[in-house]
Amino acid sequence: MNKFNEKYIQTDGGAQTTNTLNEDVAIVTGSSRGIGRAIAEQLATDGASVLVNYVTNEEARRDTIDVIEADGGEAIAVKGDVSKADDVERLFDEAEAAFGTVDIVINAAGTSICGSIQDFTEADFDRMFDVNAKGTFFVLREAANRIADGGRIVDFSTVGTSRGGSGTGPYAGSKAAGEQMVIALAEELGERDIRVNTVSPGVTDTDGLIMSDGTVKRMVEQTPLGRRGQADDIADIVAFLVNDNARWLTGQNIRATGGWEVGW
Ligand SMILES: NC(=O)c1ccc[n+]([C@@H]2O[C@H](COP(=O)([O-])OP(=O)(O)OC[C@H]3O[C@@H](n4cnc5c(N)ncnc54)[C@H](OP(=O)(O)O)[C@@H]3O)[C@@H](O)[C@H]2O)c1
Repeated sequence: MNKFNEKYIQTDGGAQTTNTLNEDVAIVTGSSRGIGRAIAEQLATDGASVLVNYVTNEEARRDTIDVIEADGGEAIAVKGDVSKADDVERLFDEAEAAFGTVDIVINAAGTSICGSIQDFTEADFDRMFDVNAKGTFFVLREAANRIADGGRIVDFSTVGTSRGGSGTGPYAGSKAAGEQMVIALAEELGERDIRVNTVSPGVTDTDGLIMSDGTVKRMVEQTPLGRRGQADDIADIVAFLVNDNARWLTGQNIRATGGWEVGW
């Protein structure tokens, strides 16, 4: 048992839990839009100070900050490309300069390009692996070196790594790399009570949804909960994962799909 987990072993029964993120500092990569934005807003609502990261979209990052601040939350926006190690280092520098520390790192930044392997270009392959695989490595490496003891890390993959199908090969391949790094990192950081998990969404309504309307319709028909996911559905799962109530979860891959894969 490490010194952090000792606090949860109580002589009087039940564990003590907290449900707020007060005084926690969170970096959320790719949080100007989509799932990352919903997570940034949710963590700020739960009391965290949040670094909102984006790469190009100034308007979207302004909107995100405005919504968080209007709700009484605290956030800064920092431009940076996760596929560049210097940019990732700067995200942590800026979070520490503004808020003093980093307790939570959510790597939601991602890029998705759909296409058959037969027709896929090397340039598209490189772009996707740069952001999704190498970018994930840079974010996880920086987090491993800088996150506070007791910290929480969540990376984003896709349910497509389990059953992607036609047109998703290179994308699913680029996301699978992160899943393996999360498993290793969970073991490497457990001694510091740092939990590391993956969330793998299914069809989720965002700009990043790359499947054709026909494929999405078919997937919704196969989904027990009978609809496509919303960014808020995923944000609530992340909010749980970074909370003390999830203190016994690390190295896991949570498939957030409305049950799409249940009948496999
Ligand atoms: N939506 C789905 O159905 C689905 C399914 C499975 C997995 N996922 C995964 O879930 C995560 C979020 O997806 P999403 O659909 O919410 O994405 P999205 O709507 O396309 O938004 C992408 C976000 O990532 C940022 N971003 C893109 N490239 C970046 C880079 N190199 N460095 C830093 N930020 C970058 C974008 O910033 P700008 O606004 O500046 O462009 C934006 O904030 C991704 O990892 C994705 O692969 C999504």
